[in-house]
Amino acid sequence: DKGGHKHYMAKEIAEQPHVIAEAIRHYLPVGDDMVHLPGDGIDFTKVQRLTMVACGTAYYACLTAKYWFEKIARLPVEVDVASEFRYREPPITEGTLALFVSQSGETADTLAALRFCQDKADKIVSVVNVPESSIARESDLALPIYAGVEIGVASTKAFTCQLAVLLMLALKAANDRGEISAEDLADHVSGLRGLPNTLNTALEQNDAIQQAAQHLSEARDVLFLGRGVMYPLAHEGALKLKEISYIHAEAYASGELKHGPIALIDQHMPVVVLAPRDALFDKTVSNMQEVMARKGKVLLVSDKDGLDEARDGTWITIQMPPIMENLTPILYSIPAQLLAYHTAVAKGTDVDQPRNLAKSVTVE
Ligand code: F6R
Repeated sequence: DKGGHKHYMAKEIAEQPHVIAEAIRHYLPVGDDMVHLPGDGIDFTKVQRLTMVACGTAYYACLTAKYWFEKIARLPVEVDVASEFRYREPPITEGTLALFVSQSGETADTLAALRFCQDKADKIVSVVNVPESSIARESDLALPIYAGVEIGVASTKAFTCQLAVLLMLALKAANDRGEISAEDLADHVSGLRGLPNTLNTALEQNDAIQQAAQHLSEARDVLFLGRGVMYPLAHEGALKLKEISYIHAEAYASGELKHGPIALIDQHMPVVVLAPRDALFDKTVSNMQEVMARKGKVLLVSDKDGLDEARDGTWITIQMPPIMENLTPILYSIPAQLLAYHTAVAKGTDVDQPRNLAKSVTVE
């Protein structure tokens, strides 16, 4: 049942305010500003290092979480794609918490990486959508994301629910380790609780994004730029566009552009810039101006303040509501997903069943 939508992917994008509210309610029960974990939970005072492993979209959720765990909880984090992890034979030292993120809970490489850690890490934790899955069952602690069944092959609501759960986990780590003030914690909690509303506001940009996608669908290649906590989302935006529209897309940290990829820029190259008005915004704007000076077409996604400051010379703009910096990757997932979705629809591809892809990758 597509609930009146043309594709499961559209339905699953639209469901995000609702499922994220579910996820938040499970970890942050109403009336309590402490993050609660199921079962024995995790005592982060004993954790010295976090090793995160996943594939594809779940890997980009881990890369985003690295910014949170390091910045908010001051906990060192390593992130690996599962297919590389165990062949590198990484040393797993005492005090290591191994964290595996998987929507299906059946991804062969992620499961193999989990088994590699089983007698080495202090604790094996997974963030999964399917609680009966192999990865959930073989973990010491499984943290469900409550996204509900995801049918579209391209992951959308599972990604944002993974992000929400990982952010709450980072807040728990920060609190256990005494790295966050009560005030800062309360700000994050109220930000999270307000998130479903903010996501609804972002979804109202659907028509504007659909129009932008008409133009994007004519491109052969697209670049995505982001920095800081938005950099992993640039990768996720590029992956989403590749997998369902078959347009070649790549992501770079905004500051890396001048170290090579700027050579690609000409009037045929759309550059999607995911840039809320944050502390690094001015630097992103100067990267963006380098693109425009070479006739690159900038599609800027920002908030009102950002657009007021940097709209001049851009090709297309999409406005997002303002939100605290640590929540921007969750909010800006909406335009990234909708842009890929509408571009694919404009190209007439099979959005829910893209060629060569399977929902669950159970071979290594
Ligand atoms: C992208 C996508 C894949 C999966 C990856 C991991 O839209 O769906 O990149 O994210 O295959 O799958 P799970 O999360 O099931 O381990």
